[in-house]
Amino acid sequence: MVPLRVLTGPAGAVIVPHMVDTSTSTRLQGIGTTIFAEMSALAARTGSINLGQGFPDQDGPAEIRQVAMNAIRDGRNQYAPSFGVPELKAAVAEHQKRFYDLDFDPDAEVVVTTGATEALAATILALVEPGDEVVVLEPYFDSYPAAIGLAGGVRRAVTLRPPHFRVDPDELRAAVTARTRLLLINSPHNPTGAVLTDAELRAISEIAVEHDLLVVTDEVYEHLTFDGVTHRPLATYPGMRDRTVTISSGGKTFSLTGWKVGWACARPELVRAIYLAKQFMTFTSGAPLQPAIAHGLRLPDAFFADLAAGLQAKRDRLCEGLRAAGLEVFEPEGTYFVTTDIRSVGGDDGLEFCLRLPERCGVVAVPNQVFYDHVEAGRHLVRWAFCKTDEVIDEAVARLRIGLAGNA
Ligand SMILES: Cc1ncc(COP(=O)(O)O)c(C=O)c1O
Repeated sequence: MVPLRVLTGPAGAVIVPHMVDTSTSTRLQGIGTTIFAEMSALAARTGSINLGQGFPDQDGPAEIRQVAMNAIRDGRNQYAPSFGVPELKAAVAEHQKRFYDLDFDPDAEVVVTTGATEALAATILALVEPGDEVVVLEPYFDSYPAAIGLAGGVRRAVTLRPPHFRVDPDELRAAVTARTRLLLINSPHNPTGAVLTDAELRAISEIAVEHDLLVVTDEVYEHLTFDGVTHRPLATYPGMRDRTVTISSGGKTFSLTGWKVGWACARPELVRAIYLAKQFMTFTSGAPLQPAIAHGLRLPDAFFADLAAGLQAKRDRLCEGLRAAGLEVFEPEGTYFVTTDIRSVGGDDGLEFCLRLPERCGVVAVPNQVFYDHVEAGRHLVRWAFCKTDEVIDEAVARLRIGLAGNA
């Protein structure tokens, strides 16, 4: 049995994911407190600037929040229909048509969930049998191994490597076996910020078609891409529409991560299966928040363009500051995050680096290694969030420049 892994830094203990607690069921073995909660707690405990967890420190559009307040005032406070309120399902279908020319029937091919997290969990629970293999890209979002584990599935990780974190189609093909049930793809990709290229998407879809696989795509950062790079859903590729579950949520797009309104789009049989799993986890979610997210999805194109442009400026600001502090920066094409190589400032273990960072610099970041099965591939990598005010970014960078000085 693998021992519980608790690492103690100057600022206190951090329990690392991939640990085992013998009091839990075997399905929970290997699942620890998410690194994001651990690092946010560390930031709060030490009074550090939190560039760990990916939440903006400014709320999303007032008009979206106003729709939610109106809905509360107007009595939309009881259970919503468990597939989702009609205007949100319609708005999701309209959004897929407007941005990607994808047609989904809002009544049969869209289900609303409690954030993308529930959509991912419900999809995996609905589609994966014990022993089935799920191919993931590593580093991966940490709810993936948890959901795969809860379903009794086995994950096979395909490594994305710096500096560009591209998918190697040969490695992906080699990870597929006779037991493979799902490919689980995330683009724009957390934590690396890579956005899958047309060639990568084509290669993934060819492998999926060739092996008759279902594909789950996590697209929560779909509107957060930079430098003219655009996101294309895998479902738009030949042969993919009916074998793909497309997942997203309003959290990142509308800077409302606490609302946890998400959705999945897929062919009717898959949506029905996801719904069956979802209905006994939460049944329904956020009744007054759903019409507000529907309103957001219908905002004019300028809103989405301004959001990306604003974040791109923050990306540039943080990347420049991290470089000035001596870190090697892998500039992201999308998301809230930038990954750095810490070896240029001394040390090669990102977890130790992050545990000492509050004391050294009064800043919290996230060690990428906890998102890998092949830990060595990510040991030296650390993720920083730039979805923060300019003042917060500037203060964090100033602290890093002082705290890391002499180590570069
Ligand atoms: C890649 C990825 N997927 C899913 C989620 C969770 O989305 P939600 O907050 O809508 O559950 C996140 C949140 O950080 C994420 O980074």
